[in-house]
Amino acid sequence: MSDKVIIFDTTLRDGEQSPGASMTKDEKVRIARQLERLKVDVIEAGFAASSEGDFQAISAVAAAIKDSVVCSLARANEKDITRAADALKAAKAKRIHAFLATSPLHMAVKLRMSPEEVLEQTKRSVRFARNLADDIEFSAEDGYRSEMDFLSRVVEAAINEGATTINIPDTVGYGTPELYGQFIHTLRTRVPNSDKAIWSVHCHNDLGMAVANSLAGVKIGGARQIECTINGLGERAGNTALEEIVMALRTRKDYFDLTCGIDATQIVPASKLVSQITGFVVQPNKAVVGANAFAHASGIHQDGILKNRETYEIMRAEDVGWSTNKIVLGKLSGRNAFKQRLHELGIAIETEVDLNEAFVRFKTLADQKAEIFDEDIIAIMSDSAAAEEGEHYHFLSMSQHSETGERPTSRVTFRMGDKEVTSEADGNGPVDASLNAIELIAKSGAEQLLYSVNAITSGTQSQGEVTVRLTKGGRIVNGVGTDPDIIAASAKAYLSALNKLHDPSLAKMNAQMTP
Ligand code: KIV
Ligand code: ZN
Repeated sequence: MSDKVIIFDTTLRDGEQSPGASMTKDEKVRIARQLERLKVDVIEAGFAASSEGDFQAISAVAAAIKDSVVCSLARANEKDITRAADALKAAKAKRIHAFLATSPLHMAVKLRMSPEEVLEQTKRSVRFARNLADDIEFSAEDGYRSEMDFLSRVVEAAINEGATTINIPDTVGYGTPELYGQFIHTLRTRVPNSDKAIWSVHCHNDLGMAVANSLAGVKIGGARQIECTINGLGERAGNTALEEIVMALRTRKDYFDLTCGIDATQIVPASKLVSQITGFVVQPNKAVVGANAFAHASGIHQDGILKNRETYEIMRAEDVGWSTNKIVLGKLSGRNAFKQRLHELGIAIETEVDLNEAFVRFKTLADQKAEIFDEDIIAIMSDSAAAEEGEHYHFLSMSQHSETGERPTSRVTFRMGDKEVTSEADGNGPVDASLNAIELIAKSGAEQLLYSVNAITSGTQSQGEVTVRLTKGGRIVNGVGTDPDIIAASAKAYLSALNKLHDPSLAKMNAQMTP
């Protein structure tokens, strides 16, 4: 059996199912490019049948990516599978990922199908998919809660029809490492043609064991593909975290004796990009990518680290792409230096006009803030990309007044469609006043679910990064805004969330919610 573990990243599909994490086409392409730099083997770019917007996004990722396989999810029916194949047309290497639930509960309640019907549907759909692509993954949704005999028959049939990868998800995060690992092992032993496919694990984190379960699926079960997301993004408690899987395989190679093709130095840039685009902040104590993951606060630890870093460090920060917040550019940096840094960060600029536009933003920021870090550049580029996508709402300027004992007021000017509008309101604080001012004119009627502020680098000179989560009509969206002035960052975040509510292409059907 091969000692290589295939890393299948589903940030753009399962990760996108987190509340508010819907991504635009351009955002998906930016993340996909970073996943390619990270050298993931397979990028699941979306669920083509979920919306026209997702179809377009998958097509754009398929056209942009050359070094990873690009995959689309599809329910196990001809319509979804055709849609997936169409979206993947431009891909250099493509995979269709068909899924059907196999647990007694899902079959009876969600699908309203008998086990025999599910078996027949599996055969039909895999056969159909195999006519459209050579690389076919079949997932038995809620596989871990399925009955072993029945699941064995389904998997055997899927392989007979030409499935090249078999994925056994722990859809609800119910597994524990030993039991899940044993489950995969038993299944592989029982299925007579199991050696004709690669086995894959896909674990959710409801009990905080997704990473441990996935590793057990590989070590005990013999799986050779792990499905995961950057930062463990995903609905509910999320998915298996890619960065933890990769660093566990590397750091404990003595135990796992397995390899993967990931370029670990691209992990932190990938983590920051996904967090910045989705508005899902990484907790400081998160393994590998949390801000404190390599910070040694206690004096004893620092003393040990200075004598020999291995006393308290099992991985090196630089190996996973942490730079030490180096000042990269400043007010006097020219256009060439800026362009060079974009290139080093792997940020593609399509035209000279785009470069000029981004450089103007850089200069404006450099006037406000003496030291410009990589994180600032990434934020500038996110802003530019959003502007390019033709946002309906766009922040222009603001002023506010707050004084102890007085109710703060704020005046915000922004573009709404092709009009420039100015609005004034008061509020509990300057942020509240600013968002009230915008809402007075935008009249979205959306309800606020979350507001959070973070410094994107260290110190009070940092830009503030604000996330606003809004809900309306059953949809949830996140908006992100950055600015050295956190009130302006808040207004930008609110307008960005309104843009997402305004964009119908971001209303996507959730794969697992629909029969
Ligand atoms: O969790 C799950 O079961 C899934 C499948 C669609 C692969 O995401
Ligand atoms: Zn899932």
